Amino acid sequence: MPVITFANTKGGAGKTTAVLLLATELARQGYRVTILDADPQHWISRWHEISGHVANISVIDFVTTASLPQHISENKQNTDYFIIDLPGARNPLLATAVGLSDHVLIPIQGCAMDARGGAQVLELLQYLEEKAGIKIGHSVVLTRVNSMVTTRALQLVKALLNERHVPVLDTAIIERSAFRDIFDCGGTLHTMDPMRVSNLDKARENALCFAEEIIRKVPGRLPVAIRLANAMVRAA
Ligand SMILES: Nc1ncnc2c1ncn2[C@@H]1O[C@H](COP(=O)(O)OP(=O)(O)OP(=O)(O)O)[C@@H](O)[C@H]1O
Ligand SMILES: [Mg+2]
Repeated sequence: MPVITFANTKGGAGKTTAVLLLATELARQGYRVTILDADPQHWISRWHEISGHVANISVIDFVTTASLPQHISENKQNTDYFIIDLPGARNPLLATAVGLSDHVLIPIQGCAMDARGGAQVLELLQYLEEKAGIKIGHSVVLTRVNSMVTTRALQLVKALLNERHVPVLDTAIIERSAFRDIFDCGGTLHTMDPMRVSNLDKARENALCFAEEIIRKVPGRLPVAIRLANAMVRAA
């Protein structure tokens, strides 16, 4: 069960949005996902409450540094991906969650290039590696990228991060109204009405590419029943 933490000590970088996009897309593909909601604004827990039952997703609210390892070990058997949404602040939970993760995703707003909060997470990862010999896979994911100027903006930011040898996901999360609306409506991008939400098809495609890139980087194991069903579809 891979543990993936979204971390950026700067508030509003797009962590919670990225967590929800990844979790709902993984769940749609059949992975059982547990989200640990450590965001003091509890957006994911509120989303879960208004959504009712969402197949394959469970949410744990109210986490402390002391309870975090227990949540992970308790859910090992019934979860294929364990995703942690951290607060946008430097607090003790950051080091604990990062230290327990298989991969750390650092959302950085692609347009603003205010990467200071992301840099603090990168410094922590470097510290863990140099001082404690703990090497944790990580990547930056560019968020809130303007769909009209994607290519130029992305190339510039990627080049800057590349100079510093920071891995960046190929898929950036685009600024889409669907990614905001999902928190108001509940449900997933696939239960939203395309007649009411603009560019929903593009939003779904973006979430799919994002999740697939993460699955390639941090493979999880689909439950046996889903793997069997997929094999039968392929054989037919
Ligand atoms: N790709 C996106 N498209 C549209 N709106 C977005 C996108 N990503 C984030 N937002 C909006 O930006 C704001 C901040 O995003 P979000 O809550 O995901 O950031 P965060 O890093 O979790 O913040 P915090 O540090 O306060 O927990 C929210 O209003 C959210 O709806
Ligand atoms: Mg948040």
